[in-house]
Amino acid sequence: MRFRPEPSAVDLAIEEEHAPLALSNSQTEEKVKELLKCLRLTGENVLRVGDIFSQEMENGINDQPSTLLMENTYIPELLNGTETGDFLALDLGGTNFRILLISLQNENVVREEVMQYHISDDLRLGEGEVLFDYLADCLYDFVHKCGVASRRLVMGFTFSFPMHQRSLNCGVLIKWTKSFAATNVEGQDVVKMLGEAIKRKGGIDVDIIAILNDTTGTLLQGCRLDHECGIGLILGTGSNACYMERAERVSHWEAERHGEKEVIIDIEWGAFGDGGLLDFIRTDFDKQVDTNSLFANSFTFEKYISGKYLGELVRLILVNLANHRLIFNGILSKKMQQIDSFTTNYVSHVEKDNVDNTICETDTVLKGFNLDYNEDDIQVVKYVCEVVSIRAALLVSTCLAEVIKRMNRDSVTVAVDGSLYKHHPRFKHWMLKFVEILAPRHKFQLMLAEDGSGKGAGLAAAVAQRLRDSYCHNSK
Ligand code: BGC
Repeated sequence: MRFRPEPSAVDLAIEEEHAPLALSNSQTEEKVKELLKCLRLTGENVLRVGDIFSQEMENGINDQPSTLLMENTYIPELLNGTETGDFLALDLGGTNFRILLISLQNENVVREEVMQYHISDDLRLGEGEVLFDYLADCLYDFVHKCGVASRRLVMGFTFSFPMHQRSLNCGVLIKWTKSFAATNVEGQDVVKMLGEAIKRKGGIDVDIIAILNDTTGTLLQGCRLDHECGIGLILGTGSNACYMERAERVSHWEAERHGEKEVIIDIEWGAFGDGGLLDFIRTDFDKQVDTNSLFANSFTFEKYISGKYLGELVRLILVNLANHRLIFNGILSKKMQQIDSFTTNYVSHVEKDNVDNTICETDTVLKGFNLDYNEDDIQVVKYVCEVVSIRAALLVSTCLAEVIKRMNRDSVTVAVDGSLYKHHPRFKHWMLKFVEILAPRHKFQLMLAEDGSGKGAGLAAAVAQRLRDSYCHNSK
């Protein structure tokens, strides 16, 4: 039987985190509270989200229709400490595109070269082959600059988008997310596309032996730091998690099997709730975020929780409040009316004021918007950021608690990375509190595992190389 706390206990935990709104005008105060009520989750709703998520995980792992991909990553083991050598890593999917060369000696990174390359909007949104040619150009530049161009190198490729993996080095892009929408890539094996681009470029010898998601990279990086690590979580521009699953539970396995006991499953929770599953928590503000996004009607969950959307959600609420003449004297500046002008980073800044009980950060943020505002407006902005942030933290915690319950280990460490987690001053605190309420029988820790998407690709290549060698050896 799955443990389910009393809804009232969850309600209480949520209530404790919401500060009361106190404005000089009590009528305005009531109206603001009323308009934002729809964003405050009840314990009952939180538990319902958890139940649905748990069922969706079960459906996905059994190859049944689900809004969670529950993708087999074909990585059956974490690092075992014997991995040694030089590994290339390519990281595409976040704000930046990076290439790394890491030298491993018994699990320790003894040398690391990193270069960051800019990807213009033209490349993100243009023809896919041109994007991959650019990646190959950068790789060519990188290996030459590192002085390793004459060597044959193995590489791990972090590709942080929903993909269908057929093997450790075959990943078919299902759908672009975040700010990428290059044409003629969806439905294609991106390892093959990159391999072909590298060939077209010529002059370097690189073998892409592993493709992975940033969550997987974060889990691998986390396990280097803590051997109890079993979950990788990203809370950044996008959001997603992966975990170690028992191999016997996994129905989908296209590659050859080698008696694996476990395997990393990439949950891909961004699209959780697509098709109406989470409509009971969906507000008109969420619908507007969705309509304004690059991918309308999809990635429902990501739009509630990730850095790409939280700021925009706050902006749309502020616009609505101003239209009701509840803030800014009812007058909006041009900037405030611009889509995406209120970034999630601003939300983190405003949240600092909520922690310190000050107004200076909010004041600085609002100054940049060219608005007429008073002390009450500042309080409302702080309140909106808090409500939106608590909802996001609750939803992430609910799903994380379900993953922890599913794994049912004595103790599990969650490796976390991403700008939202790193910069938001209260996200971690809320996650610790809410997960504990929702999965009280399980010990867990949250551990920051930075740069898993970069280094993790090198680590995945190292594990892939070790597995390849051992399979070859066993078949002799
Ligand atoms: C992608 C995931 C990725 C996450 C975090 C989402 O938009 O679909 O694959 O793990 O962002 O980068």
